[in-house]
Amino acid sequence: MAKLIIEGGRPLKGQITVHGAKNAALPILAAAMLIPEPVRITNCPRLTDVENMAGILQALGCRVDWVEDGLLIDAGSARTAELPEVLAGSIRSSVFLLGPLLGRFGAAEAPFPGGCDIGNRPVDLHLKGFRAMGVKVDEASGRIRCLGRPRGGTEIALEYPSVGATENLLMAACGAEEDTVLVNPAREPEIDDLMAFLNGAGFDLKREGSSRIRVRGGRRGHSTSHVILPDRIETGTYLVAAAITGGHVLIRGGRKEHLSALLMTLREAGCRIRIEGTDLDVEGPERPRELRRLVTLPYPGFPTDMQSQVFALCTVAKGTSVLEENVFENRFCHGAELKRMGADCYVRGRTAVIRGVKGLRGAQVTAHDLRGGAALALAGLRAEGITVVNRAERIDRGYAKFAATLRDVGAAIRREDD
Ligand code: EPZ
Repeated sequence: MAKLIIEGGRPLKGQITVHGAKNAALPILAAAMLIPEPVRITNCPRLTDVENMAGILQALGCRVDWVEDGLLIDAGSARTAELPEVLAGSIRSSVFLLGPLLGRFGAAEAPFPGGCDIGNRPVDLHLKGFRAMGVKVDEASGRIRCLGRPRGGTEIALEYPSVGATENLLMAACGAEEDTVLVNPAREPEIDDLMAFLNGAGFDLKREGSSRIRVRGGRRGHSTSHVILPDRIETGTYLVAAAITGGHVLIRGGRKEHLSALLMTLREAGCRIRIEGTDLDVEGPERPRELRRLVTLPYPGFPTDMQSQVFALCTVAKGTSVLEENVFENRFCHGAELKRMGADCYVRGRTAVIRGVKGLRGAQVTAHDLRGGAALALAGLRAEGITVVNRAERIDRGYAKFAATLRDVGAAIRREDD
């Protein structure tokens, strides 16, 4: 287990270059299973979730090698469609392998997915979509068994634009002989990056407006190489790090078009943000302004993966902020931890009310999930005294070299591993 020890009170200064996106890398690694030839995936972040996904691919018989800043994957040697129990149970994204295995072998078996507990996180929409493609799906004794090659020639309407269900069904549809149309798919940029990877490998996926995606049938995958898009959540987290410390940081390599909702929110909070190409120059206010009402929504709405970090920012705002979490039902665990640092906030169901205080004080706190953990570290950068963030290994799931990156811009932060 790991912990972060942070001495707060220093405005961050300097520049940060962002890594490739975790939430694009994970489905793209799974999609490699659809292609019986070598693929090269670069700008791939070295994160524990990515390492675990690579481990699952190896257990399925793929050759996986880290090269420079990426991975070389050859799924030509894959022979089984049954995911290893322990490894697959360790990351929720293992469920992303069901679609490609069905598309490639017409069979897939996996344990029900694990992951961080920000909500119940059912996979009913994934399985409903597979059934609509003519796949036989059994759910028994904690395992999902799928049998039958996905049949195209169907339109599948998603009740909710789930990111994971969209990705899984697109990958399954790549193995069908006829076209498949997905209605009400998710619009997150990571989905477009997955589609770009698959199109580079010879498949044919296209958005038809914002509410449909067509997957042409009868295609076979071939060798390709792909550069993963920058991580908008990592970019956003470092923007908030500058904001909460009243610092001035240049973030390089981000994509402003993927950050519109967040940039608007940070400007509302009093940040000065200048953008030139992929450079985002942010200056935080001495004390942020409150956010009257912030609601999380599927993309292009305000991302739920930035809610915790902005929650931390609101704890030191001039007034009272109201946050509504609409995507996950249990994503305010950081609230109770921030209270240990002197925050004045309360949570009722999916709403949090945060009365800004003049200052936070260092304390012992625990990361209950990935983004919540990052938010506690940001609060520690602002707080007076020493903050210890326990279970910091949960932050490793989504941030490469988190402590070192913050240290490079002047943070007094160090990591201890047991
Ligand atoms: C992806 O999770 C991301 N993970 C999450 O990021 C992100 O928070 C989420 O999308 C929303 O943007 C990856 O890409 C690996 P969903 P996913 O399916 O696919 C419900 C992070 O911090 N739902 O869009 O699980 C579900 O319970 C992580 O990087 C069903 O009810 O998200 C949730 O309430 C955390 N049935 C909502 O939809 C289903 O079959 C959104 O889930 C599927 C989802």
